[in-house]
Amino acid sequence: MAKPTVLLTRRLPDVVVEMLAPTCDVDVNQDDRPYSPDELARKAADKDAVVAVLTDKIDASLIGTLERCRVIANVAVGFDNIDTEAAKRRGIVVTNTPGVLTDATADFAMALLLAVARRVIPADRFIRDGKFHGWNVLMFLGGDLAGKTLGLAGFGRIGQAVARRAAGFGLRIVYADEHRFPIDVEQHFGARFVDKETLLRTSDFISLHLPLTPQTHHWIGEAELAIMKPTAYIVNTSRGPAIDEAALVRALREKKIAGAGLDVFEREPELAPGLAELENVVLAPHIASAAEATRSKMASMAAESVLLVLGGKDPKNRVV
Ligand code: GLV
Repeated sequence: MAKPTVLLTRRLPDVVVEMLAPTCDVDVNQDDRPYSPDELARKAADKDAVVAVLTDKIDASLIGTLERCRVIANVAVGFDNIDTEAAKRRGIVVTNTPGVLTDATADFAMALLLAVARRVIPADRFIRDGKFHGWNVLMFLGGDLAGKTLGLAGFGRIGQAVARRAAGFGLRIVYADEHRFPIDVEQHFGARFVDKETLLRTSDFISLHLPLTPQTHHWIGEAELAIMKPTAYIVNTSRGPAIDEAALVRALREKKIAGAGLDVFEREPELAPGLAELENVVLAPHIASAAEATRSKMASMAAESVLLVLGGKDPKNRVV
């Protein structure tokens, strides 16, 4: 009997091919770029499984062309790149990779928070530009953390992992989410549930940990930026469209807020005009989960899901 066929839309850690090759024919995109929509449709059309990444737009029209696909395993916790309803209608299982990237992502949110508040990037540039001619008390003054308030937009796994880290820096934690968490969870993290407006008005730092849905699209826009403290910083390691990036650029330029640490962008890999020229931002190319063991675990989790579905079993991280 012919082996089932699996498409890897990008090269992934070796563990994936090691896991799949014994029982499947694996077709890997060897180019150092994503497939175009047409290439993706052509490559995926006759595959039994697709291991996808977050830059693959797997919409209803692409799903409609999948002849044999039984599972789409997204190597990411977020799955807003996939039309899960269309997949469900076609009987295709969709899986993601929750849990294994929680710590790495939370680490990176703190890295961005610290970097933007303490002006690490401009300070580094200053030295490299040969401008450090002597110490001075007023040099590179940034924002303090201890005693300040961190507002977490989204208090799921990653938001909670950020809360755990932030407590060590002496930050007070408030959070906003669709629903309030049980009191023992709040007490465990020392976190207080607030409404969105209170979070925006009272936080010195806001870190986004929401999945991207129609409800969270532009969760931060012009109106939200207008009521934030002028000394506040925003950190986004979730999805770019959660923030209206053009409005953010205006707010940063006009010093309506103090700064932003961004790992994700509204139209990746493009940046909103003017963003990269601003001094009070730290920018990263969507790398919050890019720690070596974390990425391997994400990849092997996706491969495991493919093997389970192709073997007729239920995968652990099924989204639909
Ligand atoms: C990364 O952005 C992920 O969703 O895992």
